[in-house]
Amino acid sequence: MPQRVLPRHLGIIMDGNGRWAKKRGLPRSAGHVAGAKVFKTIVRYCSRIGIEYLTVYAFSTENWKRPQEEVSSLMSLFKTYLRDALDNFLSENVKVRFLGDTSVFDPQLRELIQKVTEVSANRTGMVLNIALNYGGRAEIARAVQLLAKDVQNGLLKPEEITEELISSKLYTAGQPDPDLIIRPSGENRISNFLLWQSAYSEYLVMDILWPDFTTKDLEYAFDVYASRNRRFGGV
Ligand code: IPE
Ligand code: IPE
Ligand code: MG
Repeated sequence: MPQRVLPRHLGIIMDGNGRWAKKRGLPRSAGHVAGAKVFKTIVRYCSRIGIEYLTVYAFSTENWKRPQEEVSSLMSLFKTYLRDALDNFLSENVKVRFLGDTSVFDPQLRELIQKVTEVSANRTGMVLNIALNYGGRAEIARAVQLLAKDVQNGLLKPEEITEELISSKLYTAGQPDPDLIIRPSGENRISNFLLWQSAYSEYLVMDILWPDFTTKDLEYAFDVYASRNRRFGGV
């Protein structure tokens, strides 16, 4: 049997935690805890089956609009998760990167982000991008600022700005664009995730809430992906 084509780079919008909790009469934070467990399972699975890049959307630049209580429970969950990652990822060959402006987080979380990045920097296995305080528009605005500075300093002429150069100023610099982006929870929108990078990504909305998501659902998504005909504007 011919080998099924797997995406090299998979993106996941981890959505539906709140609705999952509501359905059970639990606080939204309980949904986030359940979602974090699923996240661990999916990271491990992707790394074992040979996904090269996995990008997960964990907190958007717009998620600060949520009630303060929910935001702080998410921040403590991120800390718990990263502490756990420091203890347990030592055995996993996963390189962790963070996409987004992490400078606004509290010192504890910033330190954990830095440690996890450093500890895993020389890993040779799957690259795990965690999008935290990430927004596609903010990322593009930042890239434009970086390029404008190069122009201002005489290092670059405006007409030398190419698509490749813009890509090289994004958080995902040097990585291939996502081949497949899946969004559990049934919401049919991109919500500011990887706007530039997803120009030709295959997109799959799944009618399942993230805390209920299993490796079977992921396998289903891979089957759908393998059946898609990617044309990139050609024939
Ligand atoms: C996604 O789940 C997690 C984050 C945005 C941090 P939601 O919290 O958005 O869950 P729903 O969409 O309200 O169900
Ligand atoms: C997108 O989900 C952000 C993350 C999953 C981290 P949201 O729940 O914030 O998106 P909207 O508000 O439904 O568009
Ligand atoms: Mg949501």
